[in-house]
Amino acid sequence: MRKISVVGVGYVGLVTAACFSDLGNQVIALDIEEQRVAGLKRGELPIYEPGLGEVVQRNVLAGRLNFTTSYKEALADCEFVFICVGTPSSVDGDADMKYVQAAARSIAENMTAPLVVVNKSTVPVGTGDWVAELIKDAQPQPIDFWVVSCPEFLREGEAIGDFMNPHRTVLGSTSREAADKVAQLHLPLRSPIVITDLRTAEMIKYASNAFLATKISFINEIADICESLGADVKEVAAGMGFDPRIGKHFLEAGLGYGGSCFPKDVKALAFMAEEMGHEANILNSVMEVNGLRREMIVDRLKQALGDLKGRSIGLLGLAFKANTDDMRDAPSVDIAKELLAAGAKVRAYDPVAMDVAKDLMPKVEMSKDAYAVADGADAVIVVTEWNEFRNLDLERVRDSMSQPIIFDGRNIYRPELMNTLGFTYHGVGRGYTGKREKNGLKVRP
Ligand code: UGA
Repeated sequence: MRKISVVGVGYVGLVTAACFSDLGNQVIALDIEEQRVAGLKRGELPIYEPGLGEVVQRNVLAGRLNFTTSYKEALADCEFVFICVGTPSSVDGDADMKYVQAAARSIAENMTAPLVVVNKSTVPVGTGDWVAELIKDAQPQPIDFWVVSCPEFLREGEAIGDFMNPHRTVLGSTSREAADKVAQLHLPLRSPIVITDLRTAEMIKYASNAFLATKISFINEIADICESLGADVKEVAAGMGFDPRIGKHFLEAGLGYGGSCFPKDVKALAFMAEEMGHEANILNSVMEVNGLRREMIVDRLKQALGDLKGRSIGLLGLAFKANTDDMRDAPSVDIAKELLAAGAKVRAYDPVAMDVAKDLMPKVEMSKDAYAVADGADAVIVVTEWNEFRNLDLERVRDSMSQPIIFDGRNIYRPELMNTLGFTYHGVGRGYTGKREKNGLKVRP
């Protein structure tokens, strides 16, 4: 059992605190927002994440997980402190480091014994060295400490599983001993552990997210080409994915990437490159292709319906992806804005994100379910790939729509079935119009 303190109970911090306590460690999680901490003490989670509530509750009851707003309390007898605060994009595109800076200062002012300071937030390359300087300068008296970079690779909606079964753990430090100590904490997870220097670890995180974002923009470009040439991008992706050099993941064409990570991290990496005098040609194209996805769907709708003035358009899903209520950089926000600007009436339904979404799009009418969205609609757009949309009674949807036109921005339906049911169906990159195997690509063993 180790004593660990976690600074920041946002997405990364809360998952880290909950999972480390679940592995038997004594964890105290700190946030400067009193309301958040008070809510957590009452058992209220500030975010939606499947399974997280149970892990938090189990460990609070076992006395292994506590919450505080006091750095003094958090750092007392603590061996490790994890920095998990936000690094939002500044106006220029670089990461805003004010929360990391404040956390480092408070750690320096309140530590009373030697400490391993582990940074999990996604931070510009060089931040680890900067944090070490900050702590050294802000300490009232010198106490030993070591900075380790341990970037997180969790996906929202899958965070508990990703934490407990990581593909790898990356640790960067100037002190091998400190990196080894953090490696010990991760041993129960049985993942490959990569130990390297601080800057390389920080870069691994950016390069990983940028590569995944590149895969998404790549397949979206291929989707557009498929559509023009009469090919089906879902099967193209499946056929490509059997090659282990390519891999089958992150080749879902659609409305592009959103959320709190890819948009911010690709932008920040391009910014860092340009600051150093490199032209980030690939990253810039990745961002450009991604930005156009949201316009693409509205343009296609206009092509199908003509003038959108007075038309009733339904949105299925609002969150930036399924299994989260996160609306940060969600395609739905731009799509709704464009539709409203064109004079359309917009109705929407999302299983969990409507509470957050309603303030971001006050002119969009929130509906009680998917059927209410379809009722009387001139067209419906699938914006988020929630499982409950895959199993809708499609005949009921068709019969209640004013015109049965579906724009499937996430390719969750089979074109052939939709056409048989009498929908005018528009997927993304699904140019092939002949017969299909029921479950997609046929693969002979
Ligand atoms: C992403 C990474 O996957 C995590 O490894 C990383 O830790 C995290 O960012 C982070 O830096 O904190 P996340 O943003 O939760 O995680 O979501 P993803 O599941 O990666 O999806 C990102 C976006 O890409 C979503 O908008 C999703 O709809 C889109 N996407 C994903 C596609 O359009 N196509 C795909 O094939 C896959």
